[in-house]
Amino acid sequence: MSLVLDSVSKEYPTRSGPLAVLRNVSLALDAGTAAAITGPSGSGKSTLLHVLGTLDRPTSGTVKLDGTDPFALGERDLAAFRNAKVGFVFQDHHLLPQCSVLENVLIPTLVSATTKPADTEAYARDLLARVGLGARLDHRPAELSGGERQRVAVARALVLKPALLLADEPTGNLDRTNAQSVGELLLKLHEQERNVLVVVTHSADLAKMFPRRLEMNDGTLHAA
Ligand SMILES: Nc1ncnc2c1ncn2[C@@H]1O[C@H](COP(=O)(O)OP(=O)(O)OP(=O)(O)O)[C@@H](O)[C@H]1O
Ligand SMILES: [Mg+2]
Repeated sequence: MSLVLDSVSKEYPTRSGPLAVLRNVSLALDAGTAAAITGPSGSGKSTLLHVLGTLDRPTSGTVKLDGTDPFALGERDLAAFRNAKVGFVFQDHHLLPQCSVLENVLIPTLVSATTKPADTEAYARDLLARVGLGARLDHRPAELSGGERQRVAVARALVLKPALLLADEPTGNLDRTNAQSVGELLLKLHEQERNVLVVVTHSADLAKMFPRRLEMNDGTLHAA
C-alpha cells in the first residue's frame, strides 16, 4: 500500500477557540517503507497516527491509502476498510486478561467479514512462533513479561495481514533490552510482510533503526 497525505490539518475545538494540532502535513510513503516519527510531547504525533489509521478525520486536506480516500467512505465501509487494512500497536498492550495468548491474537478476526477462521488460526500460530511465543499459546497475559505481552500485541496487529502497521510508542513501557527486541521484531515482520510501517517513538535508539525518519514539531512534519 502507498500512503499519501496532502496538506492535512487537524483542529480541535476548545473553550479558548480552535486548537491547531496538525498544520498542513504532507507525506508520501511508498509500499514497503518503514518510517519512525519522533518529536516533543504534544507536537501531534499520536494525532497524525490516528489520522493515518483512519481513526480520526482531518479537518482539511486529503489522505489516500492505495489511491483510496478512506474518509470518503461511509462509516460502515470505513470500519471494514480499517479492520482489513490497518494494524495498530499501542504503548499499552491492551490484551484481554481472561483470554489466552492465541485467543488474544485471534480477536481481530472475530469481527472480520473477509477471513476464514480455519486459515487465521493457523496464521496466528505461525505469527506467534515468529515472535518467539510458539510455546506460550495457552498462557494468559498475566503469565508473560512486559516484552512478551508486547510481542503478542504485535502478532495481534498483524493477524489480518494489514497493508499498514501503525505503532504508537510500542516500546515506551519496556526496558532497553526488550525495547530493542520489539523494535527488531517490528522491522523483521515488516520485511517479511512487506507492509508500510510507521512507528511513533520517543526513543532515539528505536528511531535510528528505521530507514526513514521524520520529526513532528508543533503540528508540522519534517525529515529528521
Ligand atoms: N480530543 C482532543 N481535544 C482537544 N485537544 C486534543 C485532543 N486530542 C489531542 N489534543 C491535543 O493535541 C495536541 C497533540 O496531541 P498528541 O496526542 O497528538 O501529541 P503527541 O505528540 O502524541 O504527544 P506525546 O508524545 O505526549 O504522546 C496536544 O496539545 C493535545 O492536548
Ligand atoms: Mg502520543
